[in-house]
Amino acid sequence: MTDSRNILLIVSGGIAAYKALDLIRRLDERQIGVQCILTAAGSKFVTPLSLSALSGKKVYTDLFSLTDEQEMGHIRLSREADLIVVAPATANLIAKAANGIGDDLASTVLLAADKPVLFVPSMNARMWQHPATQRNLAQLGQDGAQFLPPNDGDLACGEIGTGRMAETGQILERVESLVSHKEGMLGSVTALVTSGPTYEPIDPVRYIGNHSSGKQGHAIAQALVQYGAKVTLVTGPTHEPDPPGATIVRITTAKEMMEACLNCLPVDVAVCAAAVGDWRIEATAEKKIKRGGNAKTFDLVENADILKHISAENQNRPELVVGFAAETENVIENATNKRAAKGCDWIIANDVSNGTKVFGGIDNKVHLIDHSGAEEWPQISKIAVADRLAKKIVSQLKSNKRL
Ligand code: CTP
Repeated sequence: MTDSRNILLIVSGGIAAYKALDLIRRLDERQIGVQCILTAAGSKFVTPLSLSALSGKKVYTDLFSLTDEQEMGHIRLSREADLIVVAPATANLIAKAANGIGDDLASTVLLAADKPVLFVPSMNARMWQHPATQRNLAQLGQDGAQFLPPNDGDLACGEIGTGRMAETGQILERVESLVSHKEGMLGSVTALVTSGPTYEPIDPVRYIGNHSSGKQGHAIAQALVQYGAKVTLVTGPTHEPDPPGATIVRITTAKEMMEACLNCLPVDVAVCAAAVGDWRIEATAEKKIKRGGNAKTFDLVENADILKHISAENQNRPELVVGFAAETENVIENATNKRAAKGCDWIIANDVSNGTKVFGGIDNKVHLIDHSGAEEWPQISKIAVADRLAKKIVSQLKSNKRL
């Protein structure tokens, strides 16, 4: 494995194409080589000359150029990169990629790619929200592509909404994480990750649930896969795409999550990121409960604590058990107490009080608490939290002489 890291940057035709120029400079500062493909529409916004001057390499634009094919065939363009980044990714290029259309150099390279692909969309807010775009994104997600969703704000078209291409810093953070040489670091390690909410049924049509999106747990499963671990993800109902490479076990209730987790043991590492329902209805109604005009009361019974169960000292205890603490006040103090009460090794504490937008949001601001105290992490994306956690797991297992 070489230390050089290279990305293939596809610049398609959106106003945010100018941001690709700064992105190339910043990647260069980080010793990440960039080879560019510019689509015909992209060349209406930036020129091949400026991309080439900044990347120090020839820019490819034409699928049918005889010289280009002789020098560097379109298949080789993707083979020589560690990662393909499409920034900006227009609704049109996303639609082509989702449907397997290869009618120009960029779309053909995407079709022939054998490398991870990161799409960084940029478009008008209504185009972004259009069911066709969302359908195409979901399809690409299922096909294993990654995304850096657009930000909210003023758009070039004069409207306000979601559609602004992610900032250069956000793109760099994701690219760095995707191209760092981490494969195989957890090569002999097995991991269990729980994610998402649980739904506790009241009757056939109602349930008690919570706002967990599963974003953080799924990102952790994905990061551990990228580091080479054999990962089982036990997940409650979420809209998150399955992390490619993980074994997925879908459950609905806390009881089912517990059973699925027990079936996974023994593992080396367990990360319990799920927001497990603390209670279930004692007697779930078999038929829909009718309104009847009276206030209803339900008897609740506490669900078993999965994290505590996994952390209990016995021959099946994973070498490293990581829990989460969702707190709305006294975050560090409560999380420290929670770590002791559950018996896990680390607790990742986050503030989920109203206004923090942790539930369902892209970013997270956490403290990692271990036996020696609390370590504050900066506000970063949930994907970056997952990457940082995976790195910390690698160093912990190394210092335990497990790796
Ligand atoms: N957890 C679990 N099983 C449960 C409840 C929680 O495995 N039945 C795990 C969560 O996955 C998380 C940790 O315990 O890793 C803490 O969850 P949290 O909701 O913050 O705390 P609770 O234990 O539910 O306590 P409380 O709601 O009183 O804060």
